[in-house]
Amino acid sequence: MMPVRVGILGFGAIGRSVVDSLLEHKEEFHLVGFSDVEQVDGTPIPQMPVEEMIHASDIVVEVASHAAVREYAVQIIESGTDLLIVSVGALADRSLEEKLLDAGPGNLIICTGALGGIDYIQAAKILGRIDDISLTSIKKPGVLSQPWMQDSMQEKLAAGDERVVVFEGNAREAAEAFPKSSNVSATLALTVGSWDTVKVRVIGDPEAKQTKHQIHLSGEVGESTFEVNSLPSTINPATSSVVPYSVVKALRTAHGSGYKIM
Ligand SMILES: NC(=O)c1ccc[n+]([C@@H]2O[C@H](COP(=O)([O-])OP(=O)(O)OC[C@H]3O[C@@H](n4cnc5c(N)ncnc54)[C@H](O)[C@@H]3O)[C@@H](O)[C@H]2O)c1
Repeated sequence: MMPVRVGILGFGAIGRSVVDSLLEHKEEFHLVGFSDVEQVDGTPIPQMPVEEMIHASDIVVEVASHAAVREYAVQIIESGTDLLIVSVGALADRSLEEKLLDAGPGNLIICTGALGGIDYIQAAKILGRIDDISLTSIKKPGVLSQPWMQDSMQEKLAAGDERVVVFEGNAREAAEAFPKSSNVSATLALTVGSWDTVKVRVIGDPEAKQTKHQIHLSGEVGESTFEVNSLPSTINPATSSVVPYSVVKALRTAHGSGYKIM
């Protein structure tokens, strides 16, 4: 079988680790190159213009930003190339979500990213009614600061010596409150097919050595809690270290050889 041709959009914390990992699977994946708004030197694969990369790829992996999804997602899918995204919060924009759902012939693949339990929740949704679904995310206070927060909240986060609930609302509101990092709540919203019913709580905790995401689900399937505690990426503390490997997992499930766990 010919290796699947992969283009990488964004050569940052996640992109670099995805590339390093995929280079260990050359019989399955051929890395055509990467695109980035910044010039990056000394890389193991070539940097190239976005259009050239899209044209040369069977699948583009977006590991860049919400802005990159807004700028390139429709173009990539309409070119017939598949697109796997991690900047899922971009889809909180209703018009972009609708355009992407209608776009083709390429496929849009949402990466499960830093979350666990999505496979079970997908099955629970097919089974039937979901009565309650919530996400509590606990992170180090320093990575949560946003321009809309009151001075008192900003000061508490900067001091980093007390536990602070910084946000409570639904997944759509979470995407507005954290415009660059609401990927986890967005992934949950897309999984259950509703931005309004997913309740989101974000907490800054100075004791948090790891980033915690806890999902609580109740419905026709029963009642479940899924919790992950991930160490931050050593390159970007705002990113969980597992995320690049969830990208590689998704690529190998879709295109790799051997048995598949889905
Ligand atoms: N789904 C999840 O669970 C999850 C978890 C963590 C991070 N993320 C998202 O993944 C994305 C990447 O995270 P990271 O930690 O690697 O960030 P990073 O800042 O380390 O790297 C991003 C790279 O993409 C480039 N870039 C940004 N906008 C671009 C554009 N429009 N076109 C081309 N290149 C662009 C930047 O120059 C940078 O090199 C972010 O959007 C982040 O919110 C998702």
